[in-house]
Amino acid sequence: MSDPLKVAVAGLGNVGVGVVKILEEHKEMIKDRAGREIQITAVSARSKTADRGVDLSPYTWVDNAADMADLDNVDIVVELIGGEEGIAFTLSKNALKNKKSLVTANKAMVAHHGALLADMAQENDVAMRYEAAVAGGIPIIKAIGEGLAANKLSQVYGIMNGTTNYMLTHMEQRGLTYDEILDEVTELGYLEADPALDLDGIDAAHKLAILSSVAFGTKTDFDNVYIEGIRKIQGIDIENSKEMGLKIKLLGMTKYENGTLSQRVHPVMIDRDLPIASVNDGFNALVVDGDYIDRTFYQGRGAGEGPTASAVVADLIDIARNHTGAAFFKPASKLVEASPVSINQRRGEYYVRILADNNTGVLADITNELKSAGVSVNDMKQKTASNDGRVYIIITTHETTETALKDAVNRIDELSVVLEPTMSIRIEKL
Ligand code: HSE
Repeated sequence: MSDPLKVAVAGLGNVGVGVVKILEEHKEMIKDRAGREIQITAVSARSKTADRGVDLSPYTWVDNAADMADLDNVDIVVELIGGEEGIAFTLSKNALKNKKSLVTANKAMVAHHGALLADMAQENDVAMRYEAAVAGGIPIIKAIGEGLAANKLSQVYGIMNGTTNYMLTHMEQRGLTYDEILDEVTELGYLEADPALDLDGIDAAHKLAILSSVAFGTKTDFDNVYIEGIRKIQGIDIENSKEMGLKIKLLGMTKYENGTLSQRVHPVMIDRDLPIASVNDGFNALVVDGDYIDRTFYQGRGAGEGPTASAVVADLIDIARNHTGAAFFKPASKLVEASPVSINQRRGEYYVRILADNNTGVLADITNELKSAGVSVNDMKQKTASNDGRVYIIITTHETTETALKDAVNRIDELSVVLEPTMSIRIEKL
């Protein structure tokens, strides 16, 4: 058997601790599967004294994680610090420069700097792996990059953020308000340190930008992901979607066609009978369409110590097996710069929620503005919002354009009877 593969782990939060546990607990099994032992040699974290429930005494403690890139007895640096820039990025670049392979769970860093890191890995003839950055326990990077490598893929979409999926699920199942479920996930510790990453769709967008590159061989382009989170969703929208046979999900969707790339993360209303509509709680799910496979569907836990650490260790095993190929499954120099497709090019149906005074003629005023914007109504209903005469007017449109819909919403919001910014959700036929 070859020499052991020596690993430095930077960051000992729950994922880092999970990696230590798996490598210890499954030591012999992993050795057989990898063809060599995978040995942690060094660890680093903010606090040396914190009790993490694992024995770290066999490993060299490194105070400054950035120094791990210079250690002699290290073949691979596992970066679990997080953050787009800062020490995580410095360590990752230095590790690659020093010809050490890089395994990371850092979605923000890969989404922003994936092409650069892939290029550095290639130049230095080492591997860069990031399975844990997208959908934790679902091996979607390997599924797309290896299992589906024979296909020309057309689209990838899915539930890429477990926290917001949990929130939407429990707003529907338990009738909780947005604020109530937000309190619950805060209490449960589900939210990212910066909750905006989850609530505003940024976390899902990081993962989507990575998936685009893996699926289509395009350069990671986070800046052109259209992003909307779930903050505007209210109980009434969930109730209405149910009545319409639809379900609200926060989806990431990426499509590549003739050199153009459409990347979007936003709430959608989808058919309740679709398999992805019944993926609830903190689970993630992904759909990948390709020319020879038609459609594939993946589901699993997208976060947490076990699933994320499992993905990190799978990457280590991959490298131990000498699978050190290109980070995005083609030479970094061949990653394509795609032309971004603007959200304004979307065509489709929309759900629209308007809060208005229940005055005579309010419906006529609203339909008049829809007519002026060229938006055709499919269905319209009125629901009492409060006992002081305010009403919700709920509209679904026929197929229209994003620009026409925005025009209609702007016009409606200028009416004096309209009491809050009008909210719309895209209805997707998947
Ligand atoms: N905040 C992320 C989620 C963690 O809720 O899915 C996993 O990336």
